[in-house]
Formats: sequence, structure tokens, C-alpha cells
Amino acid sequence: MDFIDLKAQYRALKRDIDARIQRVLDHGQYILGPEVRELEEKLEAYTGSRHCVSVASGTEALLIALMALDIKPGDEVITTPFTFVATAEMIVLLGARAVFVDVEPDTANMDVSQLEAAITPRTRAIMPVSLYGQPADMDEINAVAARRGLPVIEDAAQSFGASYKGRRSCNLSTIGCTSFFPSKPLGCYGDGGALFTNDEALAKAMREIRVHGQSGRYNHTRIGVGGRMDSIQCAVLLGKLGRFDWEVERRIALGRRYDQLLARFDPVKVKSDRTSVYAQYTIRSSDRDRVQERLKAEGIPTAVHYPLSLHQQPAYAAQYRGQSFPVSERLAREVISLPMSADLTEADQDRIAAALAG
Ligand SMILES: Cc1ncc(COP(=O)(O)O)c(C=O)c1O
Repeated sequence: MDFIDLKAQYRALKRDIDARIQRVLDHGQYILGPEVRELEEKLEAYTGSRHCVSVASGTEALLIALMALDIKPGDEVITTPFTFVATAEMIVLLGARAVFVDVEPDTANMDVSQLEAAITPRTRAIMPVSLYGQPADMDEINAVAARRGLPVIEDAAQSFGASYKGRRSCNLSTIGCTSFFPSKPLGCYGDGGALFTNDEALAKAMREIRVHGQSGRYNHTRIGVGGRMDSIQCAVLLGKLGRFDWEVERRIALGRRYDQLLARFDPVKVKSDRTSVYAQYTIRSSDRDRVQERLKAEGIPTAVHYPLSLHQQPAYAAQYRGQSFPVSERLAREVISLPMSADLTEADQDRIAAALAG
């Protein structure tokens, strides 16, 4: 059993993906070829967002979002410590400070009741993470942000395809950032990512930052990065979009079935007004090592997302000495992610549940 079965997905989509890649090889426009805009238009339609800007990775999307908002040394950006490192890393890379707000124990997303207290005169943005594929409490976060005149960046690297009160993740705040890393709910065959916004000026800034701050050929009007997504990676995603609605439905059905089978392992909860696309299906155990060993002995791979809260990571610890984020720390000790993909079978799930019970 694979942790994420990308080979079965490729077998199902081989004709479409191969044809799309071949077309790029035939026209030879490997950078900013026609697939780039075609993909962006399809993703605009999918999310309902007015602007999509494809970029080289989810990490690059976060960096470009922060640069478009002009985040500078001395600024503060509020996020959570229970996330993949890139979320805080891009804030720190720009010389700003990542101010952490702890997460909720049941969803592992930002605990909005603690948000207001973290805002200072230096706060320039709020960056919630839609962890494991479930949108954070975006309306509550947007409301706090609006009162303080702050933009909100959704780190939607794991939640492309999820919905929130009938709207799509990535189109829930000032900017949405996603990742097309191969194992993500919508993944290409390399690195890729995208930014979404309804703000014309931010979209223009993001497009320019993506190509070295160019407003016209060799006219560099701002500092940027080399952050484009390759035409071939866009072609892979275009080949995958035909099956994506089915995959999202299938992931949701499998996630809910896991919930029933594994209730006693305290799975991460999904709130009733939103869906999760289960980038990870995650349970908890105070005896994690033993549970992982038991599954491994049965040939079932697992993973831990994430084994340390970011304030405990060596590169970050000095900055956060004396601070504690107890929920995040506890989740880091207890979470276990199980195999999940649209191509997982009910029989696989039954085997996993039996191994966990055994
Ligand atoms: C929450 C979160 N943010 C950011 C990223 C970075 O995305 P990428 O790996 O495409 O750079 C990831 C993915 O790994 C992620 O899970």
C-alpha cells in the first residue's frame, strides 16, 4: 500500500496527461507557454477568484503574496506554529517576525479566540493555514482583520478543492496561496503553486514579482523573484482537471468513512459548514510510536505532520524562547497521518482499521 497512490492516478489519466505534455514538447514554449494562462483561467473559474497567478511552488506563492503586500523587516505577520515550515519561513526570510497564535485541539487550525490579543501596532497581515485540507475559520479571521485594516493570506497549500460555506478555499480572503506539490490534492509532477486574489492591483504586483519585478520586457519596476511555473507542469494539471471533481468527492467520502471506522482514534474534526479535501487524514494517539510500529508491521505506511511545533524547531527556537503553544505542542506529539488518496479503496481502509484495532 502506498501512503499516497500517485501511480494509480496516472494510470487513470495517462492519455490526457501524455497528450498535454506532448503538446508542450511540440510547440516548445516551455516557459510561460499557452498552458500557463489556460490553467490560470480554469483555476479562476474553479475557485471563483478573479485572478490566478501560477508560480513555481507553494513556498514561492507565500513569498510573492508577502512581497506584494510589501512586508518588510520589523513587520509582524500572524500565523500558527502548527504548520509546514514554509508558512513561517517566508515571513522570516523577508526580515519580518512570525507571531504565532495557537491552534484548536479538534481541527488543528488557528484558534481565532486568541487572534485579537496577538495583534500589535507592527502587525501587517494575518496568515491562517487551512491545515490538512480544511479551511480555517476564515470569516471570523476576516472580521478581526477588517476591524484592524489588515489583509488576510490563506495558506491553502493543502486545501485546494475544499469548500467553506459554499465558497472555495483560495478565494476566501485578500490572497489565497496553494501548492501543486505532487502529493497535494491537486498535484503536478514537480513543483508548482498559485496565488488567487480579487484585487486587481495585487494581481498585477504578483504577476510582476513572479518575473523579477518586470512591468515590461527588461523594465524592472520592483524587486521580484524567478518564480514562474513551467508550461509542462501546467499541462500536467490541465490533464488532471477532468477527474478532479470526482477525486474531491472521493476524498471526502473516504475521509468520512475513516471517521466512522476510527472514531476512537480521535481524528481531526471537520466543521459542519465546510469540507476537507484531506491532504492528510490525521488521527491522534498518546502512544504514537507503538501505533506506527503496528501499522508498519502490516505494511501500512504512516507519516507525522508535524513532529515539532515550529517554535520548537532548531532554526526558530531562540526567537520564541519562553513562549509556549500547548495545543500545538501536544498535537506534534500525537498526530499520525494515514494513507489517503482518491485511489485508496474501502478494502484498504478496512485493512488499516483492522491493523489499528489489533
Ligand atoms: C501548509 C503548507 N504551506 C506551504 C507549503 C509549501 O508548498 P511547496 O512544497 O509547494 O513549496 C506546504 C507544502 O508542502 C504546506 O503544506
